[in-house]
Amino acid sequence: MSLVAELPSIVRVQPTQCIDGILFYEGEYNGWFEAEYTANPEPWDYSKRAGEMFRIRFAAEKVRACNAAPENLLELGCSRGLMTERLLTFARNLYAADISATALKTCKARCDAGAKEYGCQITYLGTTAGNLPLTDSSLDLVTICDGLYGWWLSDEQKRRALVDVHRVLKQGGHVVLSDCLMNGEQRWRGRERDSVSPRHGPPIVDSSICRCLPSTKKKRCSEGTAP
Ligand SMILES: C[S@@+](CC[C@H](N)C(=O)[O-])C[C@H]1O[C@@H](n2cnc3c(N)ncnc32)[C@H](O)[C@@H]1O
Repeated sequence: MSLVAELPSIVRVQPTQCIDGILFYEGEYNGWFEAEYTANPEPWDYSKRAGEMFRIRFAAEKVRACNAAPENLLELGCSRGLMTERLLTFARNLYAADISATALKTCKARCDAGAKEYGCQITYLGTTAGNLPLTDSSLDLVTICDGLYGWWLSDEQKRRALVDVHRVLKQGGHVVLSDCLMNGEQRWRGRERDSVSPRHGPPIVDSSICRCLPSTKKKRCSEGTAP
């Protein structure tokens, strides 16, 4: 039996979990991000940094300049929804994807009311770059916000992420990439990148608190149940 009875038409793969309306997929998850979101509601303080907010506004305007009324728009790395809430004002169907269950939950709480107001259908996807569960040639626009540089991907993973974005784009579609303005030291607060190892598989989600465990911990919390 399907986990989700009716998926949006361009979502070609059934999720492995569906929790609180967010679809989760298998993938190469770096649990460090989820650990950051569970430790701090806004790990990078973007909403308190004028430069970052200006960049997000600028990037959203660039996306809109490419296509002011896209049928299908994907935001990869949507985080807590700071850019998502701008994109929902002009996209008909918006796919907001991130590897962090906590970030996606915050993004959904931030954006659902606005989406209703603007008549935008948002689908929240717990998935990794390079593993998009979307149909070939289905998107008018893709934006990658903080971004290929900041995800700690290997060159091969970066290549796969871009090949996959190209696969899902319609001919003539556009991609807008942006990354954060902070330097590495500010951004990662001195944490060692080498201490992070990716964990394979879908996020381990507790259905009540909706969080993933960091990759460095071995303990698993109970798996979420499908609604
Ligand atoms: C630096 S954060 C973005 C911060 C954000 N713009 C904000 O408002 O706080 C990067 C985002 O990309 C997500 N991410 C990291 N690796 C990813 C991957 N491989 N695929 C998709 N998203 C990823 C993280 O979970 C995080 O939400």
